[in-house]
Amino acid sequence: MQKIAIAIDGYSSTGKSTLAKQLAKALGYKYIDTGAMYRAVTLFAMRNGFIGDGRENFGALVKLLPKIKLNFVPNAKLGFSEMYLNGENVEKEIRTMDVSKYVSRIAEIGEVRHMLVEMQKEMGKEKGIVMDGRDIGTVVFPEAELKVFMTASPQARATRRYKELLDRGEEVVYEEVLKNVQERDYIDSHREFSPLRKADDAIEFDNSDMGLVEQFDRLYSIAQRYIDKA
Ligand code: DC
Repeated sequence: MQKIAIAIDGYSSTGKSTLAKQLAKALGYKYIDTGAMYRAVTLFAMRNGFIGDGRENFGALVKLLPKIKLNFVPNAKLGFSEMYLNGENVEKEIRTMDVSKYVSRIAEIGEVRHMLVEMQKEMGKEKGIVMDGRDIGTVVFPEAELKVFMTASPQARATRRYKELLDRGEEVVYEEVLKNVQERDYIDSHREFSPLRKADDAIEFDNSDMGLVEQFDRLYSIAQRYIDKA
């Protein structure tokens, strides 16, 4: 059967990654979480003092970009890949509230986007891939056979994210999580380079009132239709 490229874009905390990961597994496709790449660059910037505590030195970050090596390393036990930054597993660290706070600022930098988009295009050269992010259907794979744009109300997304962070043992306040979701929406959709927007030919998927099983079933049958057509 013909393999296709599937682009899943949308607002933060819509559950894109969970769904994209499940879909890739069910189809036997490769899964790439591009948000993890922006998060890893953000962690690198924080560790080097280029962002955080009122500091911002993007010029210095851009100079060091060639020193950043990013790899997705499969973890057979978990059944998915983990993000490595210069040889170190940073999967846990890139999901903290601190990284979430700064990542949109880093994702606005043209040079950062250019570097990561090139890497993503390379990773997706062979079909049989599910990639999720903000600009996959518009910039990275405008020729993807199936494009999905996920949305949900800010409150539904903040509630999910809040639970996720609590489960991970982080001390968080719901209002702060909601504020972070709304701020990221604003920055992500108003930035100069590849702002978040639905590709004209993307299918809009609002999951505010859908459980995980229903979301997966729907998306899987959509994907099957597109694979049959390919
Ligand atoms: O999907 P996520 O929440 O892990 O993404 C983290 C941030 O990275 C998000 O605020 C926007 C940015 N991002 C982006 O600009 N382009 C992508 N393709 C993926 C993520």
